[in-house]
Amino acid sequence: MKIDGRHYRTIFPDAGGTSVQVIDQTRLPFAFELQRLATMEDAARAIRTMVVRGAPLIGVTAAYGLALAMREDSSSEGIEQAVATLAATRPTAINLRWALDRAASVLRGVPDNERAALAFEEAARIADEDVASCRSIGEHGARILSDIAVAKGGRIDVLTHCNAGWLATVDWGTALAPIYVAHDAGVPVHVWVDETRPRNQGAALTAFELNAHGVPHTVIADNAGGHLMQHGQVDLCIVGSDRTTASGDVCNKIGTYLKALAAHDTRVPFYAALPFSTIDWTLNDGVAEIPIEERDAREVTHLTGLTEDGGFATVQVVSPGSPVANPAFDVTPARLVTGIITERGVAQASPEGLLGLYPERRKPA
Ligand code: MRU
Repeated sequence: MKIDGRHYRTIFPDAGGTSVQVIDQTRLPFAFELQRLATMEDAARAIRTMVVRGAPLIGVTAAYGLALAMREDSSSEGIEQAVATLAATRPTAINLRWALDRAASVLRGVPDNERAALAFEEAARIADEDVASCRSIGEHGARILSDIAVAKGGRIDVLTHCNAGWLATVDWGTALAPIYVAHDAGVPVHVWVDETRPRNQGAALTAFELNAHGVPHTVIADNAGGHLMQHGQVDLCIVGSDRTTASGDVCNKIGTYLKALAAHDTRVPFYAALPFSTIDWTLNDGVAEIPIEERDAREVTHLTGLTEDGGFATVQVVSPGSPVANPAFDVTPARLVTGIITERGVAQASPEGLLGLYPERRKPA
């Protein structure tokens, strides 16, 4: 996507091809800065500290991390150690594990001295495929938006949670891709942006993206969505996902489930947009089986932002001494999901629905 007239991906190799650059998302929306990742440890730290975040992007960063590791130690033990370190950075998004498995499988069985180059090539392929998948999700999802706009005969209001835009992927995004494609095609779209406490990815990142692209939007407190849905001010919800089960349960940023409940109660369609790399075909019960990341209490107790004189300040907002819990994701059961938008089309959130789009996943009878 374009920032100040220049097209950026969220991650791209340096000219020499021996390190990669990422957009530092901890500095957005107030500063647009690139960070160079030169070692596997740099990549692991960038994922852990959320310099990069969003399920597809952390997968691609991990793949590049493995490539960087191969420059230091391309032995078979080096592969396994790097995979273990990178896989341990964040537990919920399955894209991380998927990208590492794919990149590592290309390296096993080839001579050590060819591994670094092969790993960089594979990481670049995963990145390019992510862009193509997201663009395709955008096209499939935009049809839903434009059908609703035609039926309504005017502007449509979409509610989204967290950031599942281009910053969460390599480009385009998942939940925001249909919005970009529809907006670019002239469909009148307005987006309700959940602030998404505790880290405020909606208020900081989604709002930044939509501003940069000129998409009309309004940031709302996390608790406002249900009220807006009750009053007919939301035509549909679209969210991303960090892991979706074979049965269509959708794990996404904490708070997504509450939006799905409100949408169900008010009969607002609720879609999840995700690439195939987000589907965990080994799981069926998302609530019981998906590991939920528990993050630092400080994300809840403190807020960092821009002061009126242009500096940054961190302030405490929770009563000192109160215990704090910070689960980072929740699971929306398939029964609350109207449809799953993927690069292959729109599926019902059910085993049959997903297998209809991915027939190669059917187990032989
Ligand atoms: O903790 P984050 O910021 O990595 O969480 C991101 C989300 O929850 C996104 O909605 C999800 O990764 C989908 S990304 C296209």
